[in-house]
Amino acid sequence: MGRVIVLDEITANQIAAGEVVERPASVVKELVENALDAGAATVSLEIKNGGIASIRITDDGEGFYEDDVLLAFERYATSKLRSADDINKILTLGFRGEALPSVASVSRVRVTTRRRDAEFGKTVEIHGGQLVRDERVGCPAGTTIVVSELFYNVPARYKFLKKDAAEAAQISELVGRLAIGRPDVSFSLRSQNTQLLYTPGTGSLADAVFAVFGKEILDGLVPVSGGQPPYALSGYLGLPEIARGNRNLQLFYVNGRFIRNRVLHQAVEEAYQTHLLKKKHPVTILNITMDTGLLDVNAHPTKTEVRFVNEGELFRAVYHAITATLRGGGADVGGDAEAAGKSGMETAELSSVKAAGKSGTAELSGMERAAQPDAGDAGADVDAAARCGVRQDG
Ligand SMILES: Nc1ncnc2c1ncn2[C@@H]1O[C@H](COP(=O)(O)OP(=O)(O)OP(=O)(O)O)[C@@H](O)[C@H]1O
Ligand SMILES: [Mg+2]
Repeated sequence: MGRVIVLDEITANQIAAGEVVERPASVVKELVENALDAGAATVSLEIKNGGIASIRITDDGEGFYEDDVLLAFERYATSKLRSADDINKILTLGFRGEALPSVASVSRVRVTTRRRDAEFGKTVEIHGGQLVRDERVGCPAGTTIVVSELFYNVPARYKFLKKDAAEAAQISELVGRLAIGRPDVSFSLRSQNTQLLYTPGTGSLADAVFAVFGKEILDGLVPVSGGQPPYALSGYLGLPEIARGNRNLQLFYVNGRFIRNRVLHQAVEEAYQTHLLKKKHPVTILNITMDTGLLDVNAHPTKTEVRFVNEGELFRAVYHAITATLRGGGADVGGDAEAAGKSGMETAELSSVKAAGKSGTAELSGMERAAQPDAGDAGADVDAAARCGVRQDG
């Protein structure tokens, strides 16, 4: 008699969840990405106990078709692709069809959703992969998902969770990164009645950067744009004054997806080499667009790592765009008028940037504060208020 069995669906989903759902921030990432893929203009998050007790996310996206809600919790269920070939053309953030079943297998999930043109909405509740409620309801258009008691049925995973504040800090950092990638979407993150983050969704990258990182960082940035076909580049480069001791503020987005990539970090650091002291790392926010055929987004379950068909070419494109901007010429300066005024490093250095750096008044931004121990849930409404809303300095 053999010993091999085929795992039941819940067990299979829990095992798959091991790759995708490591901690509350991974749940937030999947749910926010789904909201963005659904075309949301507003994404509101509320977490309790660092997201371990609950994560509530509300979007004003297109909503689920009534018949799709239960199906979406099946493994490999997706509306985003039809065949393996589609992965090479994918423009949505998700495509694997595994986030919802994974999350629902290790927590209690409630989805309430309605399409704008539908008379009724639907609410579905799944606990540890088991359906416990499925009803028509009246509800606003869009989708609200509540994920409670993460890992309540997976003690081995629960044990690895950090203190609430540390988990909240990771969520805050993640939402900040996602918000920088989508300045056209308004994000709000609350934790235990404290607003940790709010972006206005004006479409201006400067507004998003101000809301997430604060004035000191924004004032230390100059716009970059250019690149060489097939790569187009835009975003901001940090002046030496705001360089950091780590690479946490080197953000890269490829076709709208936040990614981590060693080659991109290298291109940035080499381009800055003569401008910075050793052990200092520049701040950069780079949006790179390229043909979807030039990268493989299906390299890792969390999709934060991607593979590039031609890394050397990409390295050169990024390196040259940055060196041209740092020299103060070359790169065509796009963006807003205020940004255009600081087209080169030298001009910028002479501007208000230094003064701002010396004034010492800049508050800690959400992400920086979040990076500090004990910061996550601690009341900091004053800071939060200062960060909220659109830029006040024009
Ligand atoms: N907030 C939402 N609004 C509307 N539809 C949604 C939302 N969240 C999920 N869906 C639907 O449910 C489907 C399943 O979501 P799920 O996250 O499991 O898979 P995916 O996004 O297709 O792929 P991935 O596993 O890579 O995230 C999606 O393809 C989408 O059609
Ligand atoms: Mg998804």
